[in-house]
Amino acid sequence: MRSTISVIKADVGGLAGHHMVPEQLLEVARNSLADGKKSGIIEDFHVTAVGDDLQLIMSHTKGENNEEVHSLAWNTLKKAADVAEKLGLYGAGQDLLKDTFSGNVKGMGPGVAEIEMEERPSEPIVVFMADKTSPGAFNLPLFRVFADPFNTAGLVIDPSMHSGFTFEIMDVYENRIVKLNAPEELYDILALVGSIGRYIIRRVYRRSDEETAAAVSTTKLNLIAGKYVGKDDPVAIVRAQHGFPALGEILEPFSFPHLVPGWMRGSHYGPLMPVSVGDARPSRFDGPPRICALGFILHEARLIGPSDLFSDPAFDETRRKANIIADYMRRHGPFMPHRVESQEMEYTTLPSVLEKLKERFEELEE
Ligand code: 13P
Ligand code: 13P
Ligand code: MG
Ligand code: MG
Repeated sequence: MRSTISVIKADVGGLAGHHMVPEQLLEVARNSLADGKKSGIIEDFHVTAVGDDLQLIMSHTKGENNEEVHSLAWNTLKKAADVAEKLGLYGAGQDLLKDTFSGNVKGMGPGVAEIEMEERPSEPIVVFMADKTSPGAFNLPLFRVFADPFNTAGLVIDPSMHSGFTFEIMDVYENRIVKLNAPEELYDILALVGSIGRYIIRRVYRRSDEETAAAVSTTKLNLIAGKYVGKDDPVAIVRAQHGFPALGEILEPFSFPHLVPGWMRGSHYGPLMPVSVGDARPSRFDGPPRICALGFILHEARLIGPSDLFSDPAFDETRRKANIIADYMRRHGPFMPHRVESQEMEYTTLPSVLEKLKERFEELEE
C-alpha cells in the first residue's frame, strides 16, 4: 500500500524563553490530532517536542502536500499557539507567519518533511528533529549516510545500495534545485553542500528505482519573512534497512558533533549534540544545538513505536566532546568563527553602529 509520513513542526511558544514546550501545548496538539485521526484525515500520529519546537509526526494515505493533512497540522499549531498566548509563553506563535491557511503550510512558517512511499513489509523510519540550528545541519550527516563508504558499509557490501543515491540539492538563495548522482559526482556534490547556508540537501533518492530515501525540511524562515522571525530549526525523515542504509549507518554520522550555525539568537556556531527527547532542553547559552532521533515502524500507515534512538550510552562520548567544543567556542565571545558571518546573523546592530559612526570615519591619504 502507499503510505505517507508527514512531519510538520513549529515553534509556537516556549517556557521560559527559547527553551522547551510545556505539557499544556503537547496536550492540545495530541487532542487535535486525535480528532483528525477519528475523522479519518490521518491514520496515526505522535506528538513530541525538541527544545522549543512542537513536532507533529503523522502517518496517512493521502500523499505529500495534502490539503486536509496540512490544514489539520496548521489548525493544531494555531490551537497550541492560542494556548501559548493565554499562558503568556515566550514567543507565542513565533513561527506562524500568516493568518489564513491557503492549502499548504509551506511558506507559512512551519517546517515540513514528507515522504510518500510504497510500504515495504517492514518499513523502519527515523525522524530527526533539531533545535537551535538550520537545515544545512543535515548536509554533513546525510552526505556521510548516503555517499561515504567509510560510514555506510552497505554502499560497498549491499547489492541493492551498490549503485548509489541521487542528492536533490536546493539553492535557498535562488530558489532552485539540482540533482546530482553519487558516487560519480561526489566532488560536485561536496563543492555545493559544503556551503551549509546556501546549498541544502533536500531529498535523497535510491538510484536503482528512484524511491525516496530521505527528506529534509528546507523552509528558510528568514527568507520567507524577509527579516528575522526565528531560526528554521529543521526536521528530516530517513528510511532504513533492506535496500536503504541500516539504522546504525543512519545514526553513525551523529557520533561526530559537527559545528552548525544557530545557538544563541540564531547567530553562533556550536556543536550539534545528539540527545534523548528528555534532554532536548537547551539551556547553556540557549544551546548547544540539539538533535533527537525517533525510530518508528510504519505499518499499514500506522506508527509503531517510537524508540528514542540517541538515549544510548554509545553517544555519551559524543555529548562529552560536544560540551568540550561548546566551551572552546564560547571562549571566542562575540568573535568569529563563534559568531556567524555578518550576512547570516539574525540579530545585528551593525547598520545602526555604522550609521552612528559615519561622520567619525576618516579617509586615509595613502
Ligand atoms: P541482525 O543480524 O541483528 O539482523 O543485524 C544485521 C545487520 O545488518 C545489522 O546492521
Ligand atoms: P529558536 O529558533 O529555537 O526559537 O531560538 C531562537 C533564539 O534566539 C535562541 O537564542
Ligand atoms: Mg523560540
Ligand atoms: Mg527552536
